[in-house]
Amino acid sequence: MRMIQSMNNEWFYAPQFSEEYINQDRVDLNIFQPIRLPHTNIELPYNYFHDEDFQFISCYKRELEIPKEYEGKRIYLDFEGVMTYAKVYLNGQFVGEHKGGYTPFSIDLTEKAMYGQKNIITVIVDSTERPDIPPFGGFIDYLTFGGIYREVSLRVVEQVFIHDVFIKTYDVLSNKKRIEIDLMLTKNGHQEEPLIATCTLKQGDEVIQEVSKTIENNQVTISMTDLENIALWDIKNPCLYHMEVQLASQDQEIDRVVERFGFREAIFKADGFYLNGENIKLIGLNRHQAYPYVGYAMPKRAQQKDADILKNELGLNIVRTSHYPQSKHFLERCDEIGLLVFEEIPGWQHIGGKEWQDQAVKDVEKMIIRDRNHPSIIIWGVRINESGDHHELYTRTNELARKLDPTRQTGGVRYFEKSEFLEDVYTMNDFIHDGGLRKELARKTKNFSTYDATEDTQDDMIALRDQKQVTGLDYAVPYMVTEYNGHMYPTKKFDQEERVMEHVLRHVRVQDASFADDEISGAIGWCAFDYNTHADFGSGDKICYHGVMDMYRLPKFASYVYRSQKDPTEEIVLEPVTYWSRGDRSMGGVVPLVILTNCDYIEFYYGGASKGKYYPDKESFTGLPHPPVIIDELSGHWGSRWDDVSFVGYHNEKEVIRRTLSRSPVPVELEVIADDDLLFAKEKDVTRVVVKALDQHGNLMPFLTNPMVVKVEGAGELIGPNHLALIGGSIAFWVQTTGDKGNIQIQVASERFATQEITIKVE
Ligand code: GAL
Repeated sequence: MRMIQSMNNEWFYAPQFSEEYINQDRVDLNIFQPIRLPHTNIELPYNYFHDEDFQFISCYKRELEIPKEYEGKRIYLDFEGVMTYAKVYLNGQFVGEHKGGYTPFSIDLTEKAMYGQKNIITVIVDSTERPDIPPFGGFIDYLTFGGIYREVSLRVVEQVFIHDVFIKTYDVLSNKKRIEIDLMLTKNGHQEEPLIATCTLKQGDEVIQEVSKTIENNQVTISMTDLENIALWDIKNPCLYHMEVQLASQDQEIDRVVERFGFREAIFKADGFYLNGENIKLIGLNRHQAYPYVGYAMPKRAQQKDADILKNELGLNIVRTSHYPQSKHFLERCDEIGLLVFEEIPGWQHIGGKEWQDQAVKDVEKMIIRDRNHPSIIIWGVRINESGDHHELYTRTNELARKLDPTRQTGGVRYFEKSEFLEDVYTMNDFIHDGGLRKELARKTKNFSTYDATEDTQDDMIALRDQKQVTGLDYAVPYMVTEYNGHMYPTKKFDQEERVMEHVLRHVRVQDASFADDEISGAIGWCAFDYNTHADFGSGDKICYHGVMDMYRLPKFASYVYRSQKDPTEEIVLEPVTYWSRGDRSMGGVVPLVILTNCDYIEFYYGGASKGKYYPDKESFTGLPHPPVIIDELSGHWGSRWDDVSFVGYHNEKEVIRRTLSRSPVPVELEVIADDDLLFAKEKDVTRVVVKALDQHGNLMPFLTNPMVVKVEGAGELIGPNHLALIGGSIAFWVQTTGDKGNIQIQVASERFATQEITIKVE
């Protein structure tokens, strides 16, 4: 029988490594400190640190009692992710190693284990940017951080066990559906009796079908047919099923695993993307899995929260896991909430030598084998992000992907035209849209070296290229835009109003162009959240301010471009893109005033008087489901009185939302809200606490730089510094459990507001 034991607690960590650590059979508490996983090898400041700070070799140790009863079984240590290279020892003896920080690996402890005794595991973790391991070898626009940053578990199985289960669904749109289950076994030693595999399809406790089959070799395919009354997995109703797979010999159960999956058909065609036969325009953002202070090392709840933010808060239907396989918790959540996923292998522009390429091919294999039962994943990215063409390598990655998973199409992200098309979907980072800036600059300086206006015949406001121009082919192919904006217009949450407005408009223009073009399956913008990066990129403080949200996942105005595309039955959105002041913009005033909304129209009151009704600008934006309302005129001049404003949104002729902005905002409330009010003590658990400075109308105060002292007591501890300042009127911090049960008391004290206190329960 299979036994899985979580191994995330009781680890010890040293931020350095020395050979003698390997043979130490006790944890030396002068060198090692107790930690829980997920763990970062170093906590970093929010910004302005050295991008080498996390690049060192560290060591983790853990004691492990292996009971006598385990003798004769197989014992594995399963690592979900260690950045970037791990070497594992058991009782001072080498038991395995793994290259690559984004894929799982298993270490076989069976032979070297001491049964009925305490064993000691030592993991040497090399978090340097080793050029032999993708994504390294060149420059990359993100940080990879370090440590055992994902979970670890112990797996005890019989000598024969289920190694992998892949569930393929067919005839999904017919009312008699079909499944094929590929079952792979690992067999150690000689197996006399016949092995029987039994697959049970279940939804909840209900058994839908059960099929048994004798296994001749290490592999068997089991079919289920005539499956009726099966609900599809869909973005609106992501219905999930379970496949229980039992391995038995002479009526004795040997092993059992359960896989979750869904029935859905996802196809990119030349005229767009189809989910279960329905054409859906994909609208999404790229996600880096990085967080302030702890980098990648965030547990399940935070990973899930990101998926929730993308789907439920921003209303996206797709995310790209740029530029690597991401946490299983994130992907599982995408399955549960119906967020489609483009997953890709680690890399960034650079392709290394033969060995490096072999490693990239291995990454394809590891990614697909780990993730092919996720219904949310609809395409595999099998190219190093934005690398040049490489016929041999990409023939290999595509062939392998198709062999390992004949049910999904491949893509490969490039950023240049007429790239060799070896994939099933031409996936393109189209950074053509510059808001007309190149032309404007060219007008301003005749010597502007990087641009020759005379050669440019293109419309200077082009938002996305025609796919045939990009592919160089004279026929349409399945095509998707995988990045836009990003470095073309970095924008901070607290940037000047004209800039945040242009940031908004660029996302509007590109999404509008994507919606208007049937030959574009959709567009995934760069990017969801700001992220820490190398000195070669970003704003010099080790942050790339490319997100529509900041690193704390707090919204910039541009996030409302996405959010306002939601159906009004889901949420009514009305977000005026303004700090509402006469003097923040160059030349003064607030027009053109962009209002992101999914209301039918808005009425606008200035100083209490109605200025009329304003409608979404469907003339300028013909594609978007909910184009912004744009107000071009507002009387009043520099030197006249400034007044309060109200925006009233109507849907089906009913007032559904009202926003009032004050002519003279003053701080009234420091709002402190935790994402969760209940956490669990058993393993490291976290929640985010969001702090907002609000004025008399409940609006954010973007320029208040209020310093605060955060105190966390009881069953939790603060991640990151306890002195914080608002960034653009808000900030967040994460609180993690310590292992104790009880309450976490959180206090936020500052001068301009009353001290705020909240309590989170830990069970
Ligand atoms: C792309 C790249 C991303 C990010 C982005 C910034 O070229 O794929 O990782 O750097 O540019 O816009």
